Parts: sequence; C-alpha cells; structure tokens
Amino acid sequence: MSRTVYVNGEYLPEERATVSIFDRGFLFADAVYEVTSVLGGKLIDFDGHAARLDRSLGELGMSMPMEAEALRDVHHRLVAENGIEDGLIYLQVTRGAADRDFAFPEAGTAQTVVLFTQSKPGLADSPAAKMGLKVISIPDARWGRRDIKTVQLLYPSMGKMMAKAAGADDAWMVEDGHVTEGTSNNAYIVTGRKIVTRQLGQEILHGITRAAVLRMAREAQMEVEERSFTIEEAQAADEAFITSASSFVTPVVEIDGAKVGDGTPGKIAARLREIYLEESKRTAS
Ligand code: PDD
Repeated sequence: MSRTVYVNGEYLPEERATVSIFDRGFLFADAVYEVTSVLGGKLIDFDGHAARLDRSLGELGMSMPMEAEALRDVHHRLVAENGIEDGLIYLQVTRGAADRDFAFPEAGTAQTVVLFTQSKPGLADSPAAKMGLKVISIPDARWGRRDIKTVQLLYPSMGKMMAKAAGADDAWMVEDGHVTEGTSNNAYIVTGRKIVTRQLGQEILHGITRAAVLRMAREAQMEVEERSFTIEEAQAADEAFITSASSFVTPVVEIDGAKVGDGTPGKIAARLREIYLEESKRTAS
C-alpha cells in the first residue's frame, strides 16, 4: 500500500515523491537524519530527537529547516495519514541540490527535507527482546565524527552484512581495543550490578534512548559507569544489551560465539526494557 510521505513542504504518495540527482545528500552524504519511534500512535521522545537534529545540523553549518514544533506537526500528520499505531518515522535533512562541487554551495541553497513512516506492528514485542541477539565484533572503520548523525551508513550496512554472513544478528565495532557501539545502537554490559557503557564523545552517537535509559537506571538506584570496555570484558560480563529508538533495550546473549552469562537474556536488561517502555509510553506525545 502506498504511503503518504513528506517532501519539502508537500504531502505526497510515495510514488510521486522525488528529489534531485544533484542533491548533496545523494552525491556527498551531506545530510543528517533522525529516527523516532511511534508506540500507540504517539511519538517517543520527540524533543530529544529534535534537539539532536539541531545539534547535528549545527555541527555541519546547517540550521533547522523549521521550528521543532512545526516538525512535530509534520510527524503527527504522517502518523495520522498513514494510520501508524507502532512504527518508525524517518527524517532526513540535506544541504540541498547544487552543481557538483566539494565546497559547500552558497548559503541560502534550499535544504531538502524528507520524512516517511515505517509501520511495524508489535514493535515493542520483538522476538529479539525475548531471545536476545548474537553479535560479532568488527573494526570500527567509520569517520571520526560519529556524534553527528549523518547518513554515511555504508560501513554500518556492511557491518550488518558481516554479521549476517557469520550467522549473527549484529556487529559491535571496536577501536583501539575498545567497543565503540553497535552498527545502529549503543552497547552496554552489566558486571556485578553495574551497568557499563562507553562515555560520550565524538566516537559514538549520543543515543536518545541511551540518555533516557541511563537516567531511568539512576532513578531506580542502579549503578551506572560511563567508560569504554573490551570485547573480552563483555564476553565475561553477566549481561550485555543494546539501546536504540527502534530496539528500545534489547539483550545481547552471545559475542563472537561466546555466551554472555548463561546465554539467556539478563534480568537487568529485562527490567530496564520494562521501565523504559512503561515510562516512554506514559510520556509519549
Ligand atoms: N540508529 N548508535 C548508532 C550508530 C545509531 O545509528 C543509533 C540509532 C544509535 C542509537 O541512538 P537512538 O537511541 O537515538 O536511536 C546509536 C537509528 C535507530 C537508525 O539508524 O535506524
């Protein structure tokens, strides 16, 4: 069934939505994006995603294409027009179309703004939440500004394919002997009762789910340590898990063929998922 999508101010059937072949998102990956989840027809943590969009754009010398409130209205209209109960909203802003030149075009070039929905019935009841994920480790071969949410996703895409070829679900990326993050999620381990996840910096994306989960963990008197860890430490940990807007909190049960804990989803990950989903649904807008 054809979706209604948003392109530069217009709501169109997906077949009629087009962007220029000169778009810098297409030619240079000169674009940033956000993915916001929808549960029960409501947006999860829209304010966090809008704030990060603003920051990503700012780091690249771009500005918000419209006020956050107007952007929220676009999200709501797409949810309504496409009858989304559970799913995702993808948003991309590019520097716009200009004749091919590495240098940025003149200020004032119209940005390209695209949004579309993906319906995912039962998004919060995925089998992965019950079974846990198997991950492999791969070198982190991405660029150095992973804190900017750009659409340069070729290496993460290759990482997912490497995982698939190895019979795993995903890959954790390693740099200088330490895990940075998953291909499209933040990575965590639990040792003793302590939740360990890499500190913020330019090496990882500052996950909106990460921020919420760490806040909720601290509020629930759980101990949190923000530092890097190795694959060996993760394999020897009691639990491991990932977070993202599309997977919420999902346990990891195997790393490079070694079982984490007893090889079944851990209690702390399960509790965090429960707390996160409960609170997120309550505050969804
Ligand atoms: N990915 N790290 C990377 C590299 C990511 O691509 C993502 C999100 C995250 C988690 O961020 P958040 O909690 O804000 O979703 C961490 C999205 C879901 C995607 O590309 O589809």
